Amino acid sequence: MRFLRCPLCGRPLTAVDTGTARALRCPRGHSFDLARQGYVNLLAGRAPHTGDSPEMVDARVEFLGAGHYDMISAALAEAAATTMGSTTRTGAPTGSTDGAYPGLVVDAGAGTGWHLAAVLDAVPDTVGLALDVSKPALRRAARAHPRAAAALCDTWAGLPLADASTALLLNVFAPRNGPEFRRVLRPDGALLVVTPANDHLAELVDRLDLLRVDPTKSDRVAGSLAGEFDLVHRSRHTHPMRLHRREVATLVGMGPSAWHVDGARLAARIEALPEPVTVTASVELGHYRPR
Ligand SMILES: C[S@@+](CC[C@H](N)C(=O)[O-])C[C@H]1O[C@@H](n2cnc3c(N)ncnc32)[C@H](O)[C@@H]1O
Ligand SMILES: [Zn+2]
Repeated sequence: MRFLRCPLCGRPLTAVDTGTARALRCPRGHSFDLARQGYVNLLAGRAPHTGDSPEMVDARVEFLGAGHYDMISAALAEAAATTMGSTTRTGAPTGSTDGAYPGLVVDAGAGTGWHLAAVLDAVPDTVGLALDVSKPALRRAARAHPRAAAALCDTWAGLPLADASTALLLNVFAPRNGPEFRRVLRPDGALLVVTPANDHLAELVDRLDLLRVDPTKSDRVAGSLAGEFDLVHRSRHTHPMRLHRREVATLVGMGPSAWHVDGARLAARIEALPEPVTVTASVELGHYRPR
């Protein structure tokens, strides 16, 4: 609670219980409902879109649960443990007169909270917050880890967090808002960004006519953050996945290609794949420090 701010006026929030509903409220009376499923709706205005649909979220839960992207979780967990020294984990931000409190780990565009949970396991004494615009994703994220909470917000509109509140910010295959990420990060904090590398799912891109990753993607990401962040380290993580056709369909259903590929044509192309098929997962992990 101490890290959250009213998305309308920026003031702190307190929990209120009216007997029939629970909500968070600011001193000005702006009120935000806690959903029965455990997340709080901190959307300031209209949602830009509804984010991942229930079908896409189910697909993601199944695929992540099978362990196919565990190398991403492991890379994030390792980077988090390395970058979060004991002071970042529990200490107050530099220059703060506030006492020690658990460091905050935020995942912007957290989806189901799968990677956030792995990171929280790797960095004890921290608390986590999953932010996403998709209600079906947040229902999962609210239960992802005992030390994690979940809130609905739009990354483009701003994060419902105090200035310099966040010790570690995660961003995995999700939209980035450089100035806003910079505002919420502690001066001694870090931003970890995962983007697809140019050979990500290479075996499927041609055969299934998926959206191709821009080969300059990670440079563009670093460029778009350059005003607010310095890239201190970049690593590539590649892993062959052996997928059944059903899992290929799941994987396609998770990504942006789900919106652009014709369903019947896609199903026919998946049927023509070898069973199982080896598919390369390949991502870049960028480690940034605020300027
Ligand atoms: C490809 S998924 C990645 C989810 C998660 N990071 C993972 O790797 O499992 C992208 C996520 O970003 C969310 N998203 C898209 N636009 C958003 C926005 N403007 N604000 C917040 N979340 C957004 C989607 O709802 C979705 O959960
Ligand atoms: Zn307010």
